[in-house]
Amino acid sequence: ETVEWAAESYDMGGHDTYMHKEIAEQADAVDRVLRGRIDDRFATVHLGGLNLDAREARGVRRVKILGCGSAYHAGMIGAQLIEELARIPADAEPASEFRYRNPVVDPDTLYIAVSQSGETYDTLAAVQELKRKGARVLGVVNVVGSAIARETDGGVYVHAGPEVCVVSTKCFTNTAVAFALLALHLGRIRDLSVADGKRIIAGLRALPGQIAEIMAEEPRIEKLAGEYAQARSMMFVGRVRGYPVAREASLKLKEVSYIHAEAYPASELKHGPLALIEPAVPTVAILPDDELLDKNRATLEEIKARSGTILALAHSEQEKADHTLVVPRNEPELDPILMGIPLQLFAYHTALALGRDIDKPRNLAKSVTVE
Ligand code: G6P
Repeated sequence: ETVEWAAESYDMGGHDTYMHKEIAEQADAVDRVLRGRIDDRFATVHLGGLNLDAREARGVRRVKILGCGSAYHAGMIGAQLIEELARIPADAEPASEFRYRNPVVDPDTLYIAVSQSGETYDTLAAVQELKRKGARVLGVVNVVGSAIARETDGGVYVHAGPEVCVVSTKCFTNTAVAFALLALHLGRIRDLSVADGKRIIAGLRALPGQIAEIMAEEPRIEKLAGEYAQARSMMFVGRVRGYPVAREASLKLKEVSYIHAEAYPASELKHGPLALIEPAVPTVAILPDDELLDKNRATLEEIKARSGTILALAHSEQEKADHTLVVPRNEPELDPILMGIPLQLFAYHTALALGRDIDKPRNLAKSVTVE
């Protein structure tokens, strides 16, 4: 499988930065990762390069996902999707940590390496260590034919197209969608019902249109970013499905605006970080309309009681928040894919307001091919 990208893909196409171009491209990018893969008849998806037959897929007892930076965060979303849709215990870990802790390699675990470039040294080294110990390793990779794509036993290409900005946006989103496809595929081989398969497929098909709706909110996000750009530090909180979104949004803000940010599970706030809350430290709260909404609203009250400013990402206006960005509702399992997108715009406009070097943040490289 080879995809040739024409020189136009590297053109800025009227945008001032690659980051903005790549954020704006996401509806098309998601369309591409879905294309040709959905099978309506069996309410599943076909992943041509997976190299894992149905019997092998049934034999998987655990899934371990490895990556660095945004790829690791996309893997956190992936682990939740695999647990929810395929009911296989799954978790994500930074590839760099994994490879240095002499991990127990289990033959019934499916290992998945995640990487935009396919060249990140720590992730590649983790793959090589796993292969040496006889593990089965798949790749969720963007760059076709890259080192990680070559060294894995099979996998899912992310098809985000070339990503030039150092900070990942469209590739992060497409990686999360690729994991939804993999989770649906594994789920339908195991216990996910046809009705649930159809429900997820309808949700996947709705994503590009909903991303376009989010992009239409950009002027409002720009205005809010201008206000929050004065913050000394920002807290990002979410629970379960909202937590990886908080992690990635906090990373994005740090990388591109240089504002200090921390991400915490909302449930852990009272165990320490609440001490930091004050007017100069606003909170971005991710609260999808799922079974944890009431708990999340209680967290907003705790923050308000300490005079913290709150920007909420939610499916409806939140009265405890100072501002709410309302995100279109999808299926609960797929909501995290959409909720990160307004926060990419938020990080971008915050960085722009502060005059940062958006496509090449200081001290960072697009792909870290050394230890
Ligand atoms: C670098 C980049 C990050 C990226 C990470 C993993 O640290 O600055 O934006 O998420 O590498 O890169 P990969 O190509 O493996 O996804």
